[in-house]
Amino acid sequence: MIGPPGAGKGTQAAFLTQRFSIPHISTGDILRAERKRNTNLGRKAASYLDKGELVPDELMVEMIESRLGLDDARTGFILDGFPRTVPQAEALDAMLARLNRPLQAAIRLDLKDDDIVARLVERRVCPRCGRIYHLRNNPPSTDGICDTDGTRLYHRDDDQEATIRNRLKVYRTQTAPVIDYYDKQGLLITIPAHLTIDEVQKRIVTALREEAGTL
Ligand code: AP5
Repeated sequence: MIGPPGAGKGTQAAFLTQRFSIPHISTGDILRAERKRNTNLGRKAASYLDKGELVPDELMVEMIESRLGLDDARTGFILDGFPRTVPQAEALDAMLARLNRPLQAAIRLDLKDDDIVARLVERRVCPRCGRIYHLRNNPPSTDGICDTDGTRLYHRDDDQEATIRNRLKVYRTQTAPVIDYYDKQGLLITIPAHLTIDEVQKRIVTALREEAGTL
């Protein structure tokens, strides 16, 4: 899944992981969990996360390589937030070639900047299960509380407007070239992300069916 911050990658990946019974691998979620546990990687990543800058490619590639080596990723996986630079995309291709499991599709969610800011300033996330909410578009049944496990929701540190604007700048300069990279490989599926969550889901599944013919 590729797309600007707030386009809905995590929301859609959570649906796809259930629909296809394959793991959702979110590099942002892994980094935030590492930081919370105060691991070596978490400490290295912390300042990049706070500023909305990209964590260096070497760290990210190493992290993904070890994650894809786990048993649950043998029959497939959804990558959310990786690759985010052309060198990361090249490293992923090399990894998947070694495993003889080429990428099936690159799903791009496309959304305008103003919609992005509106989504992120009102996003709330469950710190326990990772479920994603929005105060107006996708609210929990009880204010501030996760429907799944009753945990108090939080507002991500990088969802302040100034950091969001920087994340968008970083996306345009460093991540947008990855779109061309997959377009040239014939793997790119672009989905308009301003539609409702359900409509985006339907379009992704239809596009994947057309692309693979077997899903
Ligand atoms: P990461 O956690 O990946 O953040 P991001 O890419 O900026 O994406 P977000 O999680 O903010 O948004 P999303 O597209 O998942 O949207 P969501 O579904 O939540 O990365 C964070 C940081 O980690 C980076 O800045 C970087 O420092 C580091 N990092 C991570 N990966 C890296 C890598 N590969 N290389 C280097 N550094 C890396 O939806 C947003 C909101 O909108 C929610 O409230 C949701 O309810 C709502 N919503 C979703 N869809 C819809 C819809 N269709 N209609 C209305 N509302 C909707």
